[in-house]
Amino acid sequence: MRRTILDPYEDRYARRVFGMRSSVMRDLMAITQRPEVISLAGGLPDTGAFDREYLATLVADIARDSGAQALQYGPTEGTRAVIDVIVDVMRHEGMEPDPSNIIVTTGGQQVLDLFARTFVDPGDVVIAEGPTYPGVVPCFNAVQADVRHVPLDADGLDPAKVEALLDDLAREGLTAKYLYTIPTFQNPGGCTTTLERRIRLVELAAERDLIVLEDNPYSLLRFEGEPVPTLRSLDTHGRVAYLGTFSKIFSPGVRVGWVEAPTPILARLNLMKQAADLCSSTYMQMLVTSFFTADGGEAWKRWVSKLNVIYSERLDAMCEAIDEHFPPGTSYTKPEGGLFLWATLPTAIDTTDLLARALEKDVAFVPGAGAFLDGTGGNAMRLNYSAMTPDRIREGIRRIGETAHEVLDLARSLGLDDTGGRK
Ligand SMILES: Cc1ncc(COP(=O)(O)O)c(C=O)c1O
Repeated sequence: MRRTILDPYEDRYARRVFGMRSSVMRDLMAITQRPEVISLAGGLPDTGAFDREYLATLVADIARDSGAQALQYGPTEGTRAVIDVIVDVMRHEGMEPDPSNIIVTTGGQQVLDLFARTFVDPGDVVIAEGPTYPGVVPCFNAVQADVRHVPLDADGLDPAKVEALLDDLAREGLTAKYLYTIPTFQNPGGCTTTLERRIRLVELAAERDLIVLEDNPYSLLRFEGEPVPTLRSLDTHGRVAYLGTFSKIFSPGVRVGWVEAPTPILARLNLMKQAADLCSSTYMQMLVTSFFTADGGEAWKRWVSKLNVIYSERLDAMCEAIDEHFPPGTSYTKPEGGLFLWATLPTAIDTTDLLARALEKDVAFVPGAGAFLDGTGGNAMRLNYSAMTPDRIREGIRRIGETAHEVLDLARSLGLDDTGGRK
């Protein structure tokens, strides 16, 4: 039995609690809400650009016309009207979902939690990209998953590396419960898995009976290049479950996302969601429906186009500032869309320490270690460009660059080179 002064309830908690650590992004949220802080840390869409009068009209119309329904519980799988909107959005991205295979969730985040709790017993293997979405880390920790990373490269997730890992696991007598991937504008890596690799990945999933969870919040936020088909649209064997969300194309505040999955999996997820929250907010599902059906379904597309113009300009500002201010030996991905860029600094720099120093200069980013469960990623960082104006981005990057130079100067004064080794 453990009892400590810091936490007198320690002997009561379930074992899984002790393996949990907070997502770095959540920890930073409190600090980055201070107005003087230039936050390149969160994944915050620019909700300030949304027309507030229009929002007020949408919200008021629901209250006036369907207030009783909006204030009521709804079905666990979601309202029929928002499921129809989801089918339209998925069609717009080249998929043909069956509406009965969709559950509306409380943000895409809930899909990650439901999936982990539905599939993983303590010690079960899940395959994830390295780096992976920092927000999935607590979901994996909560179920005590054994997460094996497959390193990403500029072309995204390499099916040959996934296959090699599956072979290694088989030799250990293990089977992966599922593969979790963000193929388009990966968070945090910024890379996009090529079409060739996607085709091979879905083939491999069929060959090796591998379930794939495709997480796709960002693909409509494309500034350059041609859309690449989703894994879900290439899958003809029912191996891919699909996570979507309205967070990045409308608002994270509404907390409305969805999962589309093969029928047997969906039935289990539905039970798990009943335990979690009965149903997602009816009012917010109605708000999403109103916006996504406005002007014959054209209003939201105009909004997404507007966002893409804003974000593309901010990404350019960030890249120029990194080129100017970050130390030699820095490399980074320039994504064709999404919200994040992944920068790798000289190995002498530990970005968790760098963040502590950067916060003193009122600037924040996500240190790379928060995107791995195996302790790697120490000299990398995730930088978000959607939430700040180009001027603030330039200033934020200047301050991070200045801090990085200070750390390198300190290392050199201690007789170390830029890799952290002895000179
Ligand atoms: C890759 C990825 N998956 C899921 C989510 C969760 O999004 P939400 O719960 O807001 O839909 C995010 C949010 O940043 C994300 O980047």
